[in-house]
Amino acid sequence: MEIDRDAAARARARVTGATIVDEDVLAPGLVDRLGTFDLVIGNPPYMLAGKIDLAVRRARAAVVQTDWPELDARLVDGVARHADVAATCLLRALRLVRPGGRLAFVVSTALVDADAAAPLWEAIAQIASVRALVIAPSERWFADAAVNPMLVIADRLPGGSGRPRLLRLTAPTEVAARAIGLDAIAAVCDERRADTPAQWGAALRAPAAWFAWRQAAAGAIVPLSELAAVRRGMTTGANRVFYLRRADAAAHRLEPAYLAPVVRSPFNGSPTAIAVAPDESPLVAIALPPDLALSHVPHIAAWLDDHRGLAERTSVKRREPWWSLPFSRARLFLAKAYGPRFVQRLADVPMVADQRVYTVEPKPGVDLVALAAVLNALPTALALESLGRASMGYGVVEHTVADANELPVLDVRRADRSQITALAAALAALAPRLVEHVKLERGRADRLALDRQVMALAPGGDLHDAMWTGLLQSVALRDRYLLPAIPAAAG
Ligand SMILES: C[S@@+](CC[C@H](N)C(=O)[O-])C[C@H]1O[C@@H](n2cnc3c(N)ncnc32)[C@H](O)[C@@H]1O
Repeated sequence: MEIDRDAAARARARVTGATIVDEDVLAPGLVDRLGTFDLVIGNPPYMLAGKIDLAVRRARAAVVQTDWPELDARLVDGVARHADVAATCLLRALRLVRPGGRLAFVVSTALVDADAAAPLWEAIAQIASVRALVIAPSERWFADAAVNPMLVIADRLPGGSGRPRLLRLTAPTEVAARAIGLDAIAAVCDERRADTPAQWGAALRAPAAWFAWRQAAAGAIVPLSELAAVRRGMTTGANRVFYLRRADAAAHRLEPAYLAPVVRSPFNGSPTAIAVAPDESPLVAIALPPDLALSHVPHIAAWLDDHRGLAERTSVKRREPWWSLPFSRARLFLAKAYGPRFVQRLADVPMVADQRVYTVEPKPGVDLVALAAVLNALPTALALESLGRASMGYGVVEHTVADANELPVLDVRRADRSQITALAAALAALAPRLVEHVKLERGRADRLALDRQVMALAPGGDLHDAMWTGLLQSVALRDRYLLPAIPAAAG
């Protein structure tokens, strides 16, 4: 089936005897005209829904809803309006499969990564059983297409096993293509496991070097929560009331003793240094302890009074007292979301964290700077890359505060005095400069020195190169979806 007449003609010339139907695969009434099939294979167009006219997307949602009246309209709408058009084609193609028959589609891995993943797989679970997702991490199936492809193999059998086999080809596709049946294909794959669709992307994506290192360094790896208290950054409920530019705070003569510099997310696409420069933060937060008498801070009190109306229209009004932010200060921060840079910030003085940054407060016996070195080195970057959730879309990998507490990191308590000194020196050499895209970071001498010191804390140092390769490949798989850098000056 092909909508483009030239392409259809080429297909006809190529496969004589085949019936090539000039059709829009998303046309209404198609199933009535063509019937259903034992096997439906396809390579649907990859196109972000945002590039398609809304009226067309609405019409397509209506087609899919007619195909699958049992599906919740909210799910169908979520797929047709927000996902890659391939997601809509998947639902349509499943309808062309006879009950009990099979579908095999080549789609973009964005279908397990992007925002639209949840409604798509929730919808599919109600009408089919996904048997396998297959990727070829070291091959480019389509030299001319800017997508990372994946095979979806599904049977039109609702209520089957909810856990597809997650397969990464280790043999050339040409060799694997001769295998018949999923067991035979799996025999030439690195097989991964994951329980929920939200985890499929990470399970498929994580480079083998991550698993290799985690095994090699196993005895030296602990969850971050064992080394530090990791807390959510602050949610003000009304940023316009509680965050001010320094200059504005000065203009309103807000009492400086109750203004705290704010560390915001290093994920804004632009390079950031590890070290937080003392006056770097353009923002300060109004940080008042709950038991303070507002008469002690007349200028802040006047500001709050002027903005009371704004604050009371938000969740702020549930806070008691509403003007006292629940903040904790820290010197070390873990970012919540990652583009192509891995930067964990370290400040000279305690600062408050914005909601997109977690505060990391070392537990007794854990050296702050050594922990900062570990968090900024390759093994932690690879852990963040490998285990993050990609459900935010736009190629971003995210960690919830619970994920961050579980994050496997090297146990820095293994470092002796001289190692701690060496870790601190390596970090100090790197910290003031901007951290770049990972592909520019690899091979930089200061970065290598930090990695070496950190990886010396555990076996597995010989995996350094393989880990970098894995990290770069994995970031490259999502890089094309990332938003372009936003100039830091935009604030
Ligand atoms: C990723 S290409 C695959 C080309 C070829 N079938 C192959 O497998 O190499 C997607 C094809 O889908 C066709 N196409 C796009 N929208 C379509 C639609 N609504 N109905 C049918 N074909 C469509 C495009 O013309 C394009 O040839």
